[in-house]
Amino acid sequence: MTMVCLTDFEEYAKEHLSKATWDYYASGADECCTRDDNLLAYKRIRLRPRILRDVSASNTRTTVQGTEISFPVGIAPTAFHCLAWHEGEVATARATEALNTCYITSTYSTCSVEEIAAAAPNGYRWFQLYVYRDRKLSEQIVHRVEVLGYKALVLTVDVPYTGKRRNDIRNQFKLKSTDEYGVPANTLDPSISWKDVHWLQSITHLPIIIKGILTKEDAKLAVEHGVQGIIVSNHGGRQLDGGLASIDALPEIVDTVQGRIEVYVDGGIRTGSDVLKALALGAKCVFIGRPAVWGLAYKGEEGVREVLQILSDEFRLSMALSGEFEMSGQVTKNEQRPRKP
Ligand code: FNR
Repeated sequence: MTMVCLTDFEEYAKEHLSKATWDYYASGADECCTRDDNLLAYKRIRLRPRILRDVSASNTRTTVQGTEISFPVGIAPTAFHCLAWHEGEVATARATEALNTCYITSTYSTCSVEEIAAAAPNGYRWFQLYVYRDRKLSEQIVHRVEVLGYKALVLTVDVPYTGKRRNDIRNQFKLKSTDEYGVPANTLDPSISWKDVHWLQSITHLPIIIKGILTKEDAKLAVEHGVQGIIVSNHGGRQLDGGLASIDALPEIVDTVQGRIEVYVDGGIRTGSDVLKALALGAKCVFIGRPAVWGLAYKGEEGVREVLQILSDEFRLSMALSGEFEMSGQVTKNEQRPRKP
């Protein structure tokens, strides 16, 4: 079977996963307006291609938080990879190590953070954190990932409560595996606020990246509170239905942040030209959620590698066809990019 684009992996996953598992990965909140708009919003954006710019040596490398990665697409944190592939997150970690990009490991991983680190010792990883009611539990996990060489903490802030996902209710989908995998469940703290960001800063030396910001007001607060990055995200449309598509929220956030911290985006990225659009609007890097899970469902590590490779190749081609030929720091709109002498 030749996989040509990310949608091929989606179709494969839909055919081969159990209905309940497929629905869990696919679901959005309520009417799924925001989930669907995440994709449609990219299709509304048009590029202004430049020509005759010698794109023979295009280069996709960039840096995130000071570390070089081979292209500006990382893996967003998603829960329970063992439901898609028996090796779970170990396979994801190996694939991202092989492609030399960033893997944000979810709090709700089905492999332990130790197993993940051991499987891909040279992989570049961040750890996604939820703040538990029991702060000691959160503190313990922070210290575990620090020791294991995870390079940043991604604090997800858009889940004070879990969004209402209709099919999961219909299917009576329960992450019954939570106990089995030792993942603490239902203990997220809906009272978290900016003071908890200070608390987190007080217990770690790692950079803190806030995931789930959609407005310039919150972006301004994030900068004022001294965090190192923002992931513009609506959780793949699984939380507040009716919220903005993440790519539509990106420009005002980039405008407000003014390059003081790095801004990333996730949600709805399915092609190389989506990546290019996000970068042209000021994202330093993008992250993919569901497509990585589809890759896992297809062929584990190899499947995730293929997903990443296809996006990388498509992105390189889009860069060349649009007259982009290099990555330079915080990418600007292509017509404003300074040329190399
Ligand atoms: C997620 N997401 C998520 N985010 C997070 O911070 N911690 C988590 O454990 C999870 N788990 C999770 C499970 C599944 C099945 C999905 C689809 C999503 C959200 C994820 O990080 C990301 O924001 C979105 O998936 C991005 O949208 P796309 O790429 O799936 O369209």
